[in-house]
Amino acid sequence: MSSSRQKVRESIKQLRPYVAGKGFTEISRRYGLDPKEIVKLGSNENPYGPSPQVKEALQRISPERYPEPEELSEALASYTGLPEEMIVIGAGMDGVMETLTRIFLEAGDLTFIPTPTFSYYEILTILAGARPLFSPRGLDFQIQDTIPKDVKMAFLCSPNNPTGNVLKEDELCQLLETTDAIVFLDEAYVEFAEQSLAELVGRYENLVVGRTLSKAFGLAGMRLGYALMPQWMAQEYRRAAPPFFAISCASAAAGVAALADLDYMHKSVDKIRMERERLQKEIKSHPSQGNFLYLKTEEASETFVERFLQRGIIIRDCRPFRGAGEHHVRVTVGTPAENEQFLAAYREIQR
Ligand SMILES: Cc1ncc(COP(=O)(O)O)c(C=O)c1O
Repeated sequence: MSSSRQKVRESIKQLRPYVAGKGFTEISRRYGLDPKEIVKLGSNENPYGPSPQVKEALQRISPERYPEPEELSEALASYTGLPEEMIVIGAGMDGVMETLTRIFLEAGDLTFIPTPTFSYYEILTILAGARPLFSPRGLDFQIQDTIPKDVKMAFLCSPNNPTGNVLKEDELCQLLETTDAIVFLDEAYVEFAEQSLAELVGRYENLVVGRTLSKAFGLAGMRLGYALMPQWMAQEYRRAAPPFFAISCASAAAGVAALADLDYMHKSVDKIRMERERLQKEIKSHPSQGNFLYLKTEEASETFVERFLQRGIIIRDCRPFRGAGEHHVRVTVGTPAENEQFLAAYREIQR
């Protein structure tokens, strides 16, 4: 038994596993609540879900066939304005990042990760046997350091999860111009923000922009992501990616239908942005360009979150985000009714 276990790679033993937001099942079991009473504001999902056209499309799929990603690629090209040769697909943006780290990272390589940020960058680094260099963000969460010389891959996130701030174009250009590293810019939340930096992909050979249909398009359960990258990198990606990009015929059909109804997506994004501003004013959190707010708590974040959980409201304790400390929580913007439930609990707790 012990000798078999010894075969586990050293890097796996070092991993701090990804801590996902809590789900309906866990909280309903733990507190004896009806899942229907639970308000889930811990995973940055879109409470409006996808366009109704998605459900119709899902009824027409042929599960006995392997997926055909061509139509999805075309739809993404039309949505992003980039040619299909510069677009790749994956099982969530997580899947895209897995393939990219498989392409670029070897044992002993260094990655650059401004903290706090999405923790999967660190996990992928360690899985590859590489080493993360953490760079603590400044007071307004801006990136303070340039990318050190030996870094192979840098992970930037804009709007940044969990802090909600964006990277400005001149800051990104400056980082790109002073490094040879592959720069992965995570734009998971870009539709909720004022601007995207994706057009820089055509200008820099080392820039790749990750995107997802999990957030603005309301398809988190479908696991569908994509990335915009220079043609040379897309060619390598196609060689290293799993068969069919690891998507399913259901996720491909859902993606095509969601991308055909941009009007629905824009309307749900507008509602979320309006609610974000209303919530932000009341709870006095940091400003955010994502669909979530980053809030400093007086008491320990663990205790603060627990008070909400007891009331059936799931918010995210930010302790697992390296560098976030013990006094921050993240609240996803929900529907007006969900936000009211959150605010009612917030007022009660603050009293
Ligand atoms: C910053 C960031 N990047 C990537 C992802 C993963 O996206 P996907 O659902 O497409 O795998 C998330 C999910 O919460 C995220 O917050």
